[in-house]
Amino acid sequence: MLSLRALTIANIDEVFAVYADLPRFFTLLTGEPAVPRAYVEEEISVGPPGHEKMFLGVYEGAELLGVVDILPSYPTVGRAWIGVFLIAERHHRRGLGRAGVALVENLARERGALEVSLGVELVNTSGRAFWAACGYRPTGEQFETEVLGKALRAEVLRKQL
Ligand SMILES: CC(C)(COP(=O)(O)OP(=O)(O)OC[C@H]1O[C@@H](n2cnc3c(N)ncnc32)[C@H](O)[C@@H]1OP(=O)(O)O)[C@@H](O)C(=O)NCCC(=O)NCCS
Repeated sequence: MLSLRALTIANIDEVFAVYADLPRFFTLLTGEPAVPRAYVEEEISVGPPGHEKMFLGVYEGAELLGVVDILPSYPTVGRAWIGVFLIAERHHRRGLGRAGVALVENLARERGALEVSLGVELVNTSGRAFWAACGYRPTGEQFETEVLGKALRAEVLRKQL
């Protein structure tokens, strides 16, 4: 039974443990298997100015398995944006990501969103396959992003709720 719970900087140790268990993902994006603690602290606490950001844990019982951040009204009311969505590597392919996304979509709906969008790096082919399996479609809209100084190109995916 999965649940979403709000996380703050006080949860840094357990959140950092999730980020530390994603060596394949971070090697793909940055060339390094791990990210510094300061990077994770920023992920928890920094969002686009003027927009609410919810940084949530994906829990199975008391165990934190993954994290997600959602901007419930971004860029405008009625449109939600998923920032980061991570499941620790040792839990992959158990259906947790799909179940976690369903919880996030319920939350977005409760907050009045009619659609959910996100950006996925073009190099992240498994991430794209995951989002496709969850019903997210490419929009063709691309943008430049950056992870720890590494420039990456990403595409916006979208799902109507
Ligand atoms: C992407 C991610 C969240 C998927 O989490 P997960 O719990 O393993 O995903 P699920 O088990 O719910 O998979 C659901 C479906 O997505 C697809 N999928 C998931 N991982 C995949 C992979 N590595 N390759 C291809 N398809 C994949 C499959 O269709 C899968 O269904 P199946 O297992 O019945 O074939 C996880 O791999 C992750 O955290 N990756 C690193 C971060 C990332 O890429 N985040 C998303 C991009 S922003």
